Amino acid sequence: MEFMLDTANLENITQGLEIYPIIGVTTNPSILKKEGKVDFFEHLAQIRSIIGPERSLHVQVVSQDAKHIIMEAEKIRYRLGENTFVKVPVTENGLKAIKFLATENFHITATAVYTTIQGMLAMLAGVRYIACYYNRMLNCDIDASRVIHELSSLLWASHGDCQIMAASFKNINEITTAFSNGASCCTVPYELLETGLSNPSIANAVHDFDTDWVAIHGDSKIYDL
Ligand code: G3P
Repeated sequence: MEFMLDTANLENITQGLEIYPIIGVTTNPSILKKEGKVDFFEHLAQIRSIIGPERSLHVQVVSQDAKHIIMEAEKIRYRLGENTFVKVPVTENGLKAIKFLATENFHITATAVYTTIQGMLAMLAGVRYIACYYNRMLNCDIDASRVIHELSSLLWASHGDCQIMAASFKNINEITTAFSNGASCCTVPYELLETGLSNPSIANAVHDFDTDWVAIHGDSKIYDL
């Protein structure tokens, strides 16, 4: 089970790594737009320096024909390093590019996946992650948990090292449901992780423990004893 941060906000990434068990960062043009008119490669290099060499960084192409998708993937790998995951939307042209990039040993994340057939084709074309758009599927009346369940139960047939990455989350229930239906990775906005720990019952429980401790020990803490 893995968590990634679906953000390009440097502050959120820095803080997120301190608090949460994060193994990577995913971006796309819409996520980068939220950071304003930043220099594309400079900003992504900053993310890499924050997350270090071991965590994964996922960077999306913007071209829509196979030839230019491949050129962008090559540039992304050249500028940001061999270990960068190139995100490619699973269209016909995207799939054509994915097939080629896989033969060149690129790390590829298939993205914009709404259906099982898209994920199956990407899996067989040689991607390492399949980014399934959970909330966007629900908005189209597609059963997101079924798609994730079907794809995760087909991984044995991929002949490779492929994982289901669920993405596009708007609430905590979508994340836990994605995991319980077989996603091995969820990439989530920082704010949603904060929401996961902001249930008032948690703070109330901590408050009650503190009150009971103080009733017996006063202001002393365990490290004072
Ligand atoms: O990683 C893909 C994700 O960013 C899409 O999320 O919130 O734009 O549906 P959203």
